[in-house]
Amino acid sequence: MIRSRTVRWTLLLLVAGCAPAPPRPDRDRLTEIMGLNDDHKLRIQYRTPAPDAQINERMAAIERGTRELLTLTPFGDGRDAIMHAMAARALLPIEELRTVTWTVKNRERNYRKLEAICSGCHAAVAPR
Ligand code: HEC
Repeated sequence: MIRSRTVRWTLLLLVAGCAPAPPRPDRDRLTEIMGLNDDHKLRIQYRTPAPDAQINERMAAIERGTRELLTLTPFGDGRDAIMHAMAARALLPIEELRTVTWTVKNRERNYRKLEAICSGCHAAVAPR
């Protein structure tokens, strides 16, 4: 009797362990936003030698994506709250980079600021 119950529990746990992970649409959306961010950052870097209004449009897209992060819970653990806090903190410097005129003089500094915004959040959210 005990033995068969043990067998039943073992089977149940095995089946549960093999069940596919539940879908995480927020996780997919996070990856999507980051893919877009990556593309925008790369194109801003390419554009940077020639100051261009398109840089501000790309910064506006990054800003929209960052705002959307506030609505996502991709991890389902403490990292969500860290991501939200970092996204909220990133919005002001992102807005500054969206509204400033990118010039030959400030372009390098602006690009470095953008990189720091990205990597600051990545470092904070990374599993430790
Ligand atoms: C507020 C937080 C936050 C900011 C700001 C942020 N990211 Fe991310 N990014 C994340 C998180 C969280 C992940 C990890 C996703 C994961 O673990 O699946 C990530 C992952 C990525 C990835 C890897 C995607 C993957 O899953 O393989 C790239 C590329 C990326 N980010 C680019 C950028 C760029 C470029 C910027 C700046 C323009 C940026 N990110 C700004 C939170 C942020």
